[in-house]
Amino acid sequence: MWGGRFAAQPDDAMQAINASIDVDQRLWREDIEGSKAHADMLAAQGIITREDNAAIQGGLDQIAAEIAEGRFPFSAALEDIHLNIEARLTERIGEAGKRLHTARSRNDQVATDFKLWTMRASREAGDGLRVLQQALVKRADQHVDWIMPGFTHLQTAQPITLGHHLLAYVSMFERDRVRLVGGALEAAWECPLGAAALAGTGYKIDRDMTAHALGFHAPASNSLDAVGSRDFAMAALSSLAIAVTHLSRLAEEIVLWTSPQFGFAALSDAWSTGSSIMPQKRNPDAAELIRAKAARIGADFAALNAIVQKLPLAYAKDLQEDKALTFGAFDAFSLSLTAMIGMIETMRFNREPMRAAAARGYSTATDLADWLVRELGVPFREAHEITGRIVRRAEETGVAELAHLPLSEFQSVDSRISEAARALLTVENSVESRDSYGGTAPQRVREQIERWKEMFA
Ligand code: ARG
Repeated sequence: MWGGRFAAQPDDAMQAINASIDVDQRLWREDIEGSKAHADMLAAQGIITREDNAAIQGGLDQIAAEIAEGRFPFSAALEDIHLNIEARLTERIGEAGKRLHTARSRNDQVATDFKLWTMRASREAGDGLRVLQQALVKRADQHVDWIMPGFTHLQTAQPITLGHHLLAYVSMFERDRVRLVGGALEAAWECPLGAAALAGTGYKIDRDMTAHALGFHAPASNSLDAVGSRDFAMAALSSLAIAVTHLSRLAEEIVLWTSPQFGFAALSDAWSTGSSIMPQKRNPDAAELIRAKAARIGADFAALNAIVQKLPLAYAKDLQEDKALTFGAFDAFSLSLTAMIGMIETMRFNREPMRAAAARGYSTATDLADWLVRELGVPFREAHEITGRIVRRAEETGVAELAHLPLSEFQSVDSRISEAARALLTVENSVESRDSYGGTAPQRVREQIERWKEMFA
């Protein structure tokens, strides 16, 4: 394709380092779509004839069918998807095929193809997050008032409801979804096609026509930026990296919850693995692998960012590596998402162990302090101190739950504490009482479930 200038063939290793066809053949749909829009525009502007355009359109459709049916002869000698398709076109339709690359460069071509691909993948990832959100809301609905320990520092803090805990992830995934879809909208703003190699072209092209045909808002207003920038992919990868970090935290909780030590939940057989040596084992491999995929996606973002940050304008071949990183990150994300949806939809929660764990660790101590403030007008700091002394009494006398500590022990610390106060210190009362907006009380969680359902409808 550029052989005119050279007398000898490239070294085999030169071809190996240079060729990207194994990776970028995934851009074939976008490449054909972009070429069809470009050829239509060239014909509309009288730069190629209508006959040539008709031949190009027909040839590209046939190539699309060949690729879709796995009949296309991909060649590493032709470097990338752009040259492979163009060479095949000329093979099929002759002379007209050689006119397609008029007023275009692979630089604006690849920027356009890759942007289209990334926009689509981002929207699909956003749709996938929606499916996970729906699964989480459904499980939250089924467990809206199941009580579990809420943690800070992974130390039992206050009782919460399982419904509330699951909905926390629905909120995170909503922001992730908005970031991904918003990134796709931003990328759609400007179309690189027509920037040519870097400086634009002298042909009288109509960039609005191609931009609109490909679903962009407008043609890119600076040709150097159009061919040299990849921040649309960096933005997508950073959004994926954040989203998969949230997936990873949920995965981490699944690993903890399904351990015999916690015993809060069990994964279904379809989402568990066994051990080849220990027959009793039921392992959460998928959750663990999601944690590992999260590390890789974060690294994909870091690598792309590092590639771009040292490049002078405009295009340099370093940018070719953008696709392996981006495809890899989206693939890892989509598999992680599928696995998470499967685990969430089918896992079983264990009500008793969760409730029992919630009651341990004097988790309702704050409720006693709040009672002292509310009923006796004790300043909160003082109430905190009194309650602390009671917790110490419980610890010293070997009583695991405040609700089980005899009233006499409470009164030995503060004689004003009544049986009514002691009776409040159950985990059920505790969660019922936390009914501020966004709080863990079942009635508040029900409200949020309804809000999400309306949003998904
Ligand atoms: N395969 C190349 C890439 O992905 C296409 C652009 C090549 N342009 C060039 N001037 N060598 O970046």
